[in-house]
Amino acid sequence: MKLRSVRQAKLKGKRVLFRVDYNTPLTIFKGKRQVADDTRIKITLPTLQYLIQKKSKIIIVSHLGRPGGKRVKELDLEPVAKKLENLIGQKVTKLNDISHPSTKQAIDSIKPGDIAILDNIRFLPGETKNDSRVARSISQLADLIVNDGFAVSHRNHASVSGVAKFLPMYAGFNLMLEVKMLTKLMSRPKRPLIVIIGGAKVSDKVNAIHNLANVADSIIVGGGVANNFLKAGGVDILSSYLQDTAADKKTRSINFVKIAKRLMASLRSQKMLLNGYIPIPKIVTPIDVVAADKKKNPRVLKTLNVTNKNQNGKVSKKLMFLDIGPSTIKLYQDIIGHAKTIFWNGPMGVFEEPKFARGTKEIARAVARARAITIIGGGDTISAIKQFKLTKKYDYVSSAGGASLEFLTGNKLPGLEPMRVKN
Ligand code: 3PG
Repeated sequence: MKLRSVRQAKLKGKRVLFRVDYNTPLTIFKGKRQVADDTRIKITLPTLQYLIQKKSKIIIVSHLGRPGGKRVKELDLEPVAKKLENLIGQKVTKLNDISHPSTKQAIDSIKPGDIAILDNIRFLPGETKNDSRVARSISQLADLIVNDGFAVSHRNHASVSGVAKFLPMYAGFNLMLEVKMLTKLMSRPKRPLIVIIGGAKVSDKVNAIHNLANVADSIIVGGGVANNFLKAGGVDILSSYLQDTAADKKTRSINFVKIAKRLMASLRSQKMLLNGYIPIPKIVTPIDVVAADKKKNPRVLKTLNVTNKNQNGKVSKKLMFLDIGPSTIKLYQDIIGHAKTIFWNGPMGVFEEPKFARGTKEIARAVARARAITIIGGGDTISAIKQFKLTKKYDYVSSAGGASLEFLTGNKLPGLEPMRVKN
């Protein structure tokens, strides 16, 4: 895929909307919010430095979390702006309200090489609905867009794709690198190709699994998303995290447990043969889990066999599945050990808590050991491999989770299409 590069843009003195994905994990330190992992900021620095050197007037646009179209104090970009200031070594002016006349004035007074950052763009009600009025109002702040936010390019949102109807869009260096590496590593992948999917963004991941079923030889499932598949298979998941319906009113009738059930039924006959004779299903779900009453300082901690559907009737309904269990780890290690290409997105459990980190850690190790092309993607997965000091052990670490899964399926990404150059 060929993209129009930032190097082709006339930048001197121009107001550049720099779309990035600074959707970073946050932590509280001495009562203040701080960036817990700055990978997604660091990877944009080469493009940012280029824009500064070319004397553009830079207006950064990013989202953080899912505030739902209203101002949420815990999701303002203050900690991100602070972190960026430290990393880039120059002032970053934060602009709070895009629609306020003072924002326009502040942008008009930006000098070449200066950086401003708009507050969380998802505070605007029409952003995630790709409202063209929002896209137009964002576009009126700038002369062109430079897009370095590969991790959000699967979203058809006003500041990702909508704004490109009003302004020319160019690709930043990180975005181009992501596209190049994923294309290179995934074109004609060596088989078996194993995809490991965990984490909590169930709606995205159930859809991704659906699309990836044609691409992958086997898909290993863990984390919150596994609960949907376990429930679809008739397991009592007790009080575990479950997103069964879509979040927005329009699509609330979409039931992800039902989709998971249909998907497993339709793929039941498709098996991958491990060692040439052990049949492995297309979608592999946990056979045991670590369950507890609380994430922090649990009083009850149990390993539950989830292949015995009746067993959970005997345990407290208050327990939650918070990690994959030891037999699942062993099974997943075996499958991973036979892979020739691996793509992994999403933790296997609540890895931030030591009692529930083992599943994610063992999978991270197994992928690192595998004699395969290994690609890791997504913010939480990056935090996990950093925590386990394994970052350097993979062939490629992508900043993107959902976007890279979508890219692998071969679907067009709305955030990339405006920059696509015909061959
Ligand atoms: C991500 O972290 O995958 C991107 O920032 C997109 O975030 P979203 O899933 O909330 O749209």
